[in-house]
Amino acid sequence: MKGLILSGGKGTRLRPLTYTRAKQLVPIANKPVLFYGVEAIVAAGIRDIGVVVGDTREEIQAALGDGARFGARITYIEQDAPRGLAHAVLISEKYLRGEPFVMYLGDNVIADGITALVDDYRRIGCNSQILLAKVPNPSQFGVAELEAGRVVRLTEKPKEPKSDLALVGVYMFDDSIWDAVKSIQPSARQELEITDAIQWLVDHGKTVHPHLVSGWWKDTGKIEDMLEANRIILDTFTARGCDNLGADCRVEGKVVVEPGARLERASVRGPAVIGAGATVRDAFVGPYTAIGPDCLIDRCEIENSIVLEASRLERIPVRIADSLIGKNVRIHPGLERPRVHRFLVGDNSEIGLV
Ligand code: TTP
Repeated sequence: MKGLILSGGKGTRLRPLTYTRAKQLVPIANKPVLFYGVEAIVAAGIRDIGVVVGDTREEIQAALGDGARFGARITYIEQDAPRGLAHAVLISEKYLRGEPFVMYLGDNVIADGITALVDDYRRIGCNSQILLAKVPNPSQFGVAELEAGRVVRLTEKPKEPKSDLALVGVYMFDDSIWDAVKSIQPSARQELEITDAIQWLVDHGKTVHPHLVSGWWKDTGKIEDMLEANRIILDTFTARGCDNLGADCRVEGKVVVEPGARLERASVRGPAVIGAGATVRDAFVGPYTAIGPDCLIDRCEIENSIVLEASRLERIPVRIADSLIGKNVRIHPGLERPRVHRFLVGDNSEIGLV
């Protein structure tokens, strides 16, 4: 069995971060989202992984390399434009044909991994298996209808959903998928939809088995989802690196202080992670916060936030919360009069002032 991770796409919902980095490389609890997927596939016993890449190919390749550090063998497959999930499958035929495979969307995180799903597929012997989760708002997802334990219909973002079972970003296919992806037509948004390909399988008498997710899962396409995934993953941490902190520091709960991070007169309330080489000085880092490597948090309070590497937050008089702050960002009060807010902010940014 092989793996296929989709790591192309546009990432429009995560702008402005995705102007300068692949959305799959935005860190959650200080680890790129994509790494959770690779690790889940390897944990399911799959070593050969194809990674579909687009404009951000170089960055993704620099992060994953040949896969050896994950115990995998990675092959990169170039997609000329984000023409849909089924298009990503179509262009991977040469790499995948002849073996069943698991397809994993590179911006998804699934708590329990995919080992149970892969084992189930091997045991059942169906043509395709899809991962489903009960959601309160099915009209925002691809929705599956079941009959007698089989998938009979899939609808992309239905206005009047017939079930509350949403498609989670992991799918399994055998060689019957090749006819499907070659037979379907682009949708109204001009993409080859994976829901249409799976519907084609159903309509042509192939078996599509549903596997229900029991734990949480997150598609980290939006900022709120990233913060939520960050919270959930930080919650699984055990405290580390907190033993030799000065007497002027206060650390409570699950706090990870990476090697080389410095805390001076800091108060950190977990779950939280302070990245390697970061400095937290005269500051409070509150629950559910991930401070990236080489950041400076000086005379600030921050909680429920993600700060990417080498950003500097200094002397901010109001607590920062619910924020996603990019790399090399500087936030500090102006030094001179008149006392004004002064911004140098990229396109599609959002700033909330008190
Ligand atoms: P999406 O989140 O559906 O698409 P997107 O990345 O373009 O994001 P947005 O809607 O914010 O613009 O994609 C799910 C995953 O699949 C994601 O990791 C990107 C990847 N993908 C491809 O690799 N090729 C594609 O053609 C598409 C549509 C997505």
